[in-house]
Amino acid sequence: MTKRILITGGTGFIGQQLVDQWLLEGHDITVFSRRPAWVARRWQHRVRSAITWSEVQGEFHWLVNLAGEGIADRRWSAARKAVLRQSRIDLTHEMANWATTTQQSFEVVVSGSAIGIYGADAGGPSPTILTEDNGFGQDFSAQLCRDWEHAAQALGARSERLIYLRTGLVMGPHGGMLKRLWLPFSLGLGGVIGTGQQYLSWIHIDDYCRAVQRLLSDTQASGVYNLTAPTPVSQAEFTTTLGQVLSRPTLLPMPAFVARMLFGEMSDLLLQGQYVVPLALQRQGFEFQYERLEDALTQIARTW
Ligand SMILES: NC(=O)c1ccc[n+]([C@@H]2O[C@H](COP(=O)([O-])OP(=O)(O)OC[C@H]3O[C@@H](n4cnc5c(N)ncnc54)[C@H](OP(=O)(O)O)[C@@H]3O)[C@@H](O)[C@H]2O)c1
Repeated sequence: MTKRILITGGTGFIGQQLVDQWLLEGHDITVFSRRPAWVARRWQHRVRSAITWSEVQGEFHWLVNLAGEGIADRRWSAARKAVLRQSRIDLTHEMANWATTTQQSFEVVVSGSAIGIYGADAGGPSPTILTEDNGFGQDFSAQLCRDWEHAAQALGARSERLIYLRTGLVMGPHGGMLKRLWLPFSLGLGGVIGTGQQYLSWIHIDDYCRAVQRLLSDTQASGVYNLTAPTPVSQAEFTTTLGQVLSRPTLLPMPAFVARMLFGEMSDLLLQGQYVVPLALQRQGFEFQYERLEDALTQIARTW
């Protein structure tokens, strides 16, 4: 059945792949975006766009909320932190107000969040294994994700189901963390960051999109889901694997103090790890196409 879908963040690395998939399935899509001309060009006018809430017309079956300024794009000054919060939390509040005013009645709302909500682990060979049942951390990323989820709660009153996606590091061509690492690693300039013992909880973008699709259509799916592969890797293992896939050496380490100097507080994202498992998805029998990082990176290298 054709669904009327509204998505924020539809022009992003992840959102574009979801929109492509929905178009193939014949759905009717509206992308909420600051760049309507880009949307028209990218999908050749097969997708509607709206730049303000008053432009969003009609009723929708599915709402997918992914918009947010890039967490790792710039140093976290006080002004940048405010932008990171506004672009997620304020936008989600505005969306909830629009949904109430226009009396939307969704089948499902899927709202973004990230595994940063659990707080960072100090790193080390015996990390805490984090599932959806763990509590929240205290650092900036944790507060941001917690407040983002909180803002989306109001949408629960307008939907049969409300789902939070606690997303790990999404691996895919030309986006996310790999976009920054691909060139230096391709030039043989990659290396271990910090101790290398900190864990990275990652997911291949195809598995991410398959999981979202499953959660949207499975009428039993509701609540919190970790979107990570079941097999986190240490930063050292990640570095070695990416080097092997690209057939390049990875001999240039980045000590913790250099990362702190270069990235300020944002270096926490690189230096502190998290071992997160997708318990809720596994309980629902979701099968990952990419459980091994090597398979995921090899597939990405073929399409880069
Ligand atoms: N990629 C990852 O590894 C990862 C991991 C964990 C969580 N996430 C979260 O998942 C979401 C999507 O990730 P992504 O990698 O696809 O992000 P992305 O490529 O950076 O795209 C971000 C999207 O958010 C919209 N946006 C940015 N700033 C905005 C603002 N100030 N107001 C309104 N919209 C704004 C942009 O839309 P327009 O420019 O069209 O307005 C764009 O479509 C993000 O919220 C991100 O934090 C991603």
